[in-house]
Amino acid sequence: MEKVLKVLRYGHHEAIVVTVDETGIPHAAAMGVRAQGRGIAIFPYINTKTYRNIVRGSPISVAFTQDSIVFCRVVVEPQELRFREGRVRGVYILDDSVDLYVEAVPEALSNHGTRASVLLKVLDAYEGCGSLIAFSRANAMLVESLVYLTKLRALAEGSFSGDRSEVGRWLEVLRYSLSIVRKLGSGELIRCANAVMDELRRLGVVI
Ligand SMILES: Cc1cc2nc3c(=O)[nH]c(=O)nc-3n(C[C@H](O)[C@H](O)[C@H](O)COP(=O)(O)O)c2cc1C
Repeated sequence: MEKVLKVLRYGHHEAIVVTVDETGIPHAAAMGVRAQGRGIAIFPYINTKTYRNIVRGSPISVAFTQDSIVFCRVVVEPQELRFREGRVRGVYILDDSVDLYVEAVPEALSNHGTRASVLLKVLDAYEGCGSLIAFSRANAMLVESLVYLTKLRALAEGSFSGDRSEVGRWLEVLRYSLSIVRKLGSGELIRCANAVMDELRRLGVVI
């Protein structure tokens, strides 16, 4: 657990949460994670599949990675994701470039309006096959763009429950973050930025 708390020493972090649905199929979603006491907490909106799976009692894995391309796959190409069984019975983990896996069960759940806070009890934590990556603004900005893409997608699908007056600002952040990816990123990152643009177009969003 010490290792997990150290990895989460900067406050709010981003990770991939894997739950299992009622038919036993794993589901991945990008979620914010924080250290809380001797455990970790996640904050799913209550209209997410992740939240519904947790309420049903799904075990959980959390994948920490520095690699924005993994986040991009989860958000833009979920059909390409691969999973494998974790160490704890019933847990699935994301089979990708992951630095640290945490396997957990929900311990306490509280709702604050449209968002829940789920405290997780960590059962196991171990390193994945992620590889070192130096700090990169393009890498960070690709994740930033994905946050706003998922908000716009929720809005387009009618499941957004937050403040709609923020949309103008989201578009501005998307424009800026994607411009940094294009300016500073590798070909691989730029291809992801293009996939984000394609998805925005599909949603009818022009930036
Ligand atoms: C980096 C990042 C962080 C996110 N954090 C959260 C979060 O903390 N809670 C949440 O409900 N959705 C968050 N989202 C949006 C969800 O990943 C997205 O809406 C997801 O499709 C909803 O979950 P579901 O697939 O379980 O329905 C985040 C998205 C990104 C890209």
